[in-house]
Amino acid sequence: MSLHPERLPSSLILVGAGKMGGSMLEGWLDVGMNPSGVTVIDPRPSEEMTRLCAEKGIALNPSDQPSGPDVLVLAVKPQMLETAAPALNGYLGPQTLIISILAGKTIGDLTGRLPAASAVVRAMPNLPASIGRGATGAAANAQVSETQRLMADALLASNGIVEWLPSEDLIDAVTAVSGSGPAYVFHLVECLAEAGAAAGLPPDLAQRLARATVTGAGELLFRSDLPPATLRQNVTSPGGTTAAALEILMRDPDGLKDLMREAVAAAKRRAGELAG
Ligand SMILES: NC(=O)c1ccc[n+]([C@@H]2O[C@H](COP(=O)([O-])OP(=O)(O)OC[C@H]3O[C@@H](n4cnc5c(N)ncnc54)[C@H](OP(=O)(O)O)[C@@H]3O)[C@@H](O)[C@H]2O)c1
Repeated sequence: MSLHPERLPSSLILVGAGKMGGSMLEGWLDVGMNPSGVTVIDPRPSEEMTRLCAEKGIALNPSDQPSGPDVLVLAVKPQMLETAAPALNGYLGPQTLIISILAGKTIGDLTGRLPAASAVVRAMPNLPASIGRGATGAAANAQVSETQRLMADALLASNGIVEWLPSEDLIDAVTAVSGSGPAYVFHLVECLAEAGAAAGLPPDLAQRLARATVTGAGELLFRSDLPPATLRQNVTSPGGTTAAALEILMRDPDGLKDLMREAVAAAKRRAGELAG
């Protein structure tokens, strides 16, 4: 991950400081964003958010309406866009870059509802962003300048890796892979634990082993430059126990590959339906 604190905006409004907005704010502060340049708008901020803003000197729901920041980050629930739109319009200046993380809301939806909008980045982060290990796919409209794209990259990279997409159309596929992906991995732990119990382990013990195995393997993958296939081959002796299991998981057809392809296709299809 390449962090560029010097590219962070000097003024930013965060609209919606819930789970994801709050995590993003913490990421920006961690990489050196100047808190006095941040304004948070949220009608019912959590106690933690109120405390964080007070501690850091961040303006929270100021009585003077802020306007024309470098960046406005939109992190309300998608269904709140309609309600929030009139207020949002008032915050925008001609140079303001909007970064939206609203699932299913296209750049067209945003510019359609916000007449003052021009430059828009649509981003899809995922849950591990809350611990700085997220994976975000992002797409920009033609009005986004190179400086604004780098600014968006600096903000999004504070929560993990950022992949810029050549076309917004790819967001549904990103949603299906990394957006929804953490749940697939949690389910893998459930399946491994259940299989361990079926193999004779006490269920609690199987849970602990499965959990530590997936998090440990994930950390190894994180720390390594090797492709996952090489890491897999490195621990698979011919004719050994791992090979016996992989023969089942990798069978063709009906192995994990086909199942995963089907699952990701279903998630992508659903993302398209929800957007439409
Ligand atoms: N969580 C994820 O893993 C994830 C991943 C990718 C994308 N996203 C996107 O991130 C967005 C936020 O999700 P979340 O899970 O963080 O939801 P959340 O915890 O409900 O956060 C939304 C926040 O916005 C506040 N809000 C509601 N109306 C507002 C308004 N008019 N102006 C300002 N703030 C307002 C809400 O307050 P109240 O609670 O009082 O209504 C809440 O604090 C969603 O659009 C979602 O699609 C989330």
